[in-house]
Amino acid sequence: MTNTHTHNSNSNSNKMTGSLSNKMALGKSIKMYLTIFVATTCIYMVLYQYHLSRQPLTANEVVKPPLYIITPTYRRPEQLAELTRLGYTLKHVLNLLWLVIEDANKTNPLVAHTLDRIGVPYEYLVAPMPEQYKHTKKAKPRGVSNRNRGLDYLRANASEGVLYFADDDNTYDVNIFEQMRYTKKVSMWPVGLVTKTGVSSPIIREGKLDGYYDGWIGGRKYPVDMAGFAVSVKFLHERPNAKMPFKPGYEEDGFLRSLAPLQNSEIELLADECRDILTWHTQTKKNPPAQPFNATRYANTNLAFIEKLLVRP
Ligand code: UGA
Ligand code: MN
Repeated sequence: MTNTHTHNSNSNSNKMTGSLSNKMALGKSIKMYLTIFVATTCIYMVLYQYHLSRQPLTANEVVKPPLYIITPTYRRPEQLAELTRLGYTLKHVLNLLWLVIEDANKTNPLVAHTLDRIGVPYEYLVAPMPEQYKHTKKAKPRGVSNRNRGLDYLRANASEGVLYFADDDNTYDVNIFEQMRYTKKVSMWPVGLVTKTGVSSPIIREGKLDGYYDGWIGGRKYPVDMAGFAVSVKFLHERPNAKMPFKPGYEEDGFLRSLAPLQNSEIELLADECRDILTWHTQTKKNPPAQPFNATRYANTNLAFIEKLLVRP
């Protein structure tokens, strides 16, 4: 009896442990299948993302005409900060080549390093201001050599798309880049923070360009700011002599006049037909050069490194 009982109870407990281990085995295989399922799903997701990333660009992206952004720059304490801010704005824009052109005799590795770090496609060129203008007490033609160098580059290297002169210290809403991309000849739009009027803008009356609003007209045919117009590269090729004059205050006007013949009706009016402001002529406070660095006192410290990033007279 006891034996049988024991036997019975043993066999019962065997049955019980049997079904328990079956359940456990089932649980285990469910877990295993789940794991395999989740892992496979993950692998497929990764592969799919990779596949997507290797896909050719969509038609919409392929047909986007290239933008050439010509940025004059020069060595000063604010230079790397300005280029960094502008560069990260441009990083939001597709199919763009940034022509950074320094008013200098040779390139500066610190500028090249900054441009590399930002990661926007760029060409870094130099174009010094002619000596005769450098030492004048009068207003200097700032950024003119640089911009003309940019035009030469485009004449040699570009066949389509649109060029825009973007000074390194201004503020740009990225929407203006998408709008200017389709410029047929010349496009224009308002620029905030220009002169006492607070804005420089084409005047649109009954849908037509009817003069300009700017605190300083100065006898200009095109009283516009550098940040307020873009030009088609094809149109530039049709005007082989177009260039910017070394004439302070008249750089924009001189360049736009050199694009003649150009009818007012051919000027495209962007930024919601000039009812909106998407670019600003911001100016950065001038900072004094850094004071001399005591290399002995700070030898073997981090300061010995950052000291090399500073601008001194
Ligand atoms: C204003 C206009 O916005 C400029 O487009 C125009 O060239 C200038 O006036 C002018 O008429 O001289 P503003 O803010 O007064 O510009 O001048 P900056 O911003 O000091 O210089 C314009 C551009 O030229 C900047 O991108 C700057 O980096 C560059 N620049 C300035 C040089 O390459 N060399 C210089 O010696 C000074
Ligand atoms: Mn400026």
